[in-house]
This record gives sequence, structure tokens and C-alpha cells, in this order.
Amino acid sequence: MRHFFLTVPVLASCLTVALLAAPQPDAVETKVLPLVVIKAARLVDPVTGRVLANQAVVIEGDRVKAVVAAADLTKIVPAGASARVIDLGAATLLPGLIDCHTHVTGQPENFYEDLFRRSPIDEAVTAHLYARRTVEAGFTTIRNVGAGNYIDFALKRAIDTGKIAGPRMLASGPALGATGGHTDLSGMSPYIRFEGDIGGVADGVDAIRKKIRENIKYGADVIKFMATAGVLSEEESVGAPQYSFEEMKAVVDEAAMWSRKVAAHAHGAEGIKRAIRAGVASVEHASFIDDEGIALAKEHGTWLVMDIYNDDYIMAEYARLGYPQKILDKEKLVGRTQRENFAKAVKAGAKIAYGTDSGVYPHGWNGKQFFHMVKWGMTPMQAIQSATVNAADLLGWADKVGRLAPGHYADLIAVRGDPLADVTVLEHVAFVMKGGRVVKNSLTTEPSDRID
Ligand code: ARG
Repeated sequence: MRHFFLTVPVLASCLTVALLAAPQPDAVETKVLPLVVIKAARLVDPVTGRVLANQAVVIEGDRVKAVVAAADLTKIVPAGASARVIDLGAATLLPGLIDCHTHVTGQPENFYEDLFRRSPIDEAVTAHLYARRTVEAGFTTIRNVGAGNYIDFALKRAIDTGKIAGPRMLASGPALGATGGHTDLSGMSPYIRFEGDIGGVADGVDAIRKKIRENIKYGADVIKFMATAGVLSEEESVGAPQYSFEEMKAVVDEAAMWSRKVAAHAHGAEGIKRAIRAGVASVEHASFIDDEGIALAKEHGTWLVMDIYNDDYIMAEYARLGYPQKILDKEKLVGRTQRENFAKAVKAGAKIAYGTDSGVYPHGWNGKQFFHMVKWGMTPMQAIQSATVNAADLLGWADKVGRLAPGHYADLIAVRGDPLADVTVLEHVAFVMKGGRVVKNSLTTEPSDRID
């Protein structure tokens, strides 16, 4: 508190000293940032859908400066100029991957224990582990669509200020939804309350608008709401709508006032169409989408984010995790149909962005969905595009991520082998750079720039 007693002349002389000591503007402008060069045998360009041989990515600070044929490198980095060169040899380079549907703050261990023995503080202290696993899996950007108690906002701040390792995040905060719906806790005694819990229950236009304003006040970059019932919640049939059209419209209008896009969780055909007509940016899950819904999505330019890996994990593990039979039965209704409808949507040329619902399965396994996307109708290049250029477009970050181009963040990954021949190599990402810093490197002896 000492500075309260400084007199004005003392303050003025401090300021003069500070100004004299400050670097001159010219010196700042001409400061040369150290260059980093990443070389590899192949580079996948999702913008053109082509694979280029022997490329070099030149990075200055946290951005890409140029992508050139390795033979032309001296045009960008003159011989003699100092640069850190990382030669990844026979590996394949790609832009950092993007998962448009994550729940990075937690993952289930046991249905009842998670509910009754853990508090939001438990979730908050472990979230950083999942963020690290996600970025180390090659997902350098995520759109996190649903987290209670604003834990996602705190996680994002810690990542963005360089305190912990993790992906770039768009965060929604608590997902909005109706009383008794997918965002609420159903099936319990009416006497159970979780004191102080900050969730997303909001009924009616006014409450919805207020909840959105609150979410944005504390840090929401995107708005998520439940247009229909869900699988991993004990309310009624999985596809039933849970907001009226007016309520969905209110979500989209209010979000638009704050320049936020809206993601709608929707399994059932009616709820999907309602959400598309209300103007959402993306429909999540889209399990029972019908032909009319696919046509509407195309007409409105709505993205479909279909989590078609999940079923494998839920069917294999959720009985062991103590999930109620009702929930397992709901998954049986959704699993295969969602995959068949994914194939239909691909065939029809609907816009599809990569989103996995990570947190339903262990974080870091985000790449496992590529296999299913290819099995159900995409080419490997389309699947890669869904997780790079297309995902960036949905996020509104096309000028920042999803491609390796000058001015974009230096977010890039490398895999051993050729992902176009075998897309499952993306399950084992060997090198990750985010914002010009090496997060993971199992390809060379070059040390990584880890934050710990
Ligand atoms: N979060 C989603 C829900 O509870 C998960 C759905 C998982 N199943 C699937 N086949 N995608 O509704």
C-alpha cells in the first residue's frame, strides 16, 4: 500500500525514468523472432485436399510464416540465418486437429460415486490432466460444449495464460435445457439438491435469455443447449424434443446479440429440425436425423457433429461403471442408427465437422472416431477435413486454425505413416506443436517445450 503515499512529483519522476528506460518503438518493430523450421516427407493440405512431398513449415513466434518445398527453404530462411530446424524425416505433417464436441473437464469413473462422492472441486483439480491428454493426442483446438460450475472457463484461462498444457478452447459453460431434461438430473428423489451447483436449467424465453447472459458474463464463447432428451440421463425417450420452437429461437436470438454461435444437442428427428429452423450453427449427435432433416441442414448450412465412436465405449464399459439399465437401453436404440444416418448425411453432402463427445470415453482417445467416419462413408481426406478446415469454419476460427498457412497459429502435428492410406495412424500422434511450442515429440531427440 506504500504507493498511496507517493507525492505527485515523485510519481512524475518515476514515470520519466520508466519512459527513458523503455525500448524505443523502432527497436521493438525490428526485433527478429527466432525462426523454427519443421520438415517432413509429406504434408497433408486439407484446404486443397492434396498431399505435398518434402515440405518445410517456417514458424515465427506462435504463427506460421510460410510453407514451402524444402528445396526452396533458403528463399524464406537465408543461409546463415539462425533457425531451429526440426526434421521429422519420413513422418506426415498435418494441421493440429480440432474436436468440436468435448467435455474436457471430466470423465466417468462410477455413475453413483461421480454423482454423490465428488464435488465440482474434484472436477476442477483433475481437469488439467484431461486437457493435457487432449493436446498430446494432437487435438490443439477444442469446442467444449457443456461443463458445470464454469470449470471450463477456469481451465481455458489457465491454458491461455500458459500455466498448464492444453488445447485452445471455445467454452460454453453450463449447457442450457429444460427442467427434467438432459441438462438436469432426473430419476432421483425430489429431496436431492446439490447446494450451490451452477447448471444450465432454464425454462421459458426470459429465463433462457438470462442464463445465456450469465454464461457470457463469466466467459462463454459459444452457447450449448439441449433440443431433445439424451442417452446418458434418465429422462424420457432419447429423441423427444425438450424446448419449444420459441425457446430454441430465443436461444439463437440472444446468442446472436452477443455474437455467439449455438450448438444444439439433438437426437430426435423433430428436435433436430426445430433447432435447424431456429438457426443453430450445429446439431450435435443428430442420431435420428431423417431425409428432411438432412435436406434442411444443407439448405441452412447447418453443421452436423455426429459422435459415432462413442457407442463402442459405452456398450463395452458403462455397465461396469454402474450406469442404470435404462441408460444402456437408450444407447442400444441410438448406436447403430446414428452411424447409418451419418453415412446418409455424408452421401447427401451435408456439412460435417469432427466432434466426439470426449469425456463420455477417456480423454486423449479423440482420434478413434476417424476410423468410424471412414468405415461409414467418408474418404480419409474428408475425415481429416472434418477435423481441420471444416471444424475451424464451424468454430468461426477459420482465420486462425485448421490449416497451415501464413498468419495462422503454428498448430501442427505429425504421424508416422500415411493417414490417407490408414486413417488410424491419427490415433497415435507422434509430434504436436501448439502456437510454435513443441508440446510432444516422440520422433526426434529434439526436446519439447513442455509446461509443467
Ligand atoms: N452425450 C450424449 C447423450 O447422452 C451421448 C450419446 C452417446 N451415444 C452415441 N451413440 N453417440 O445423449
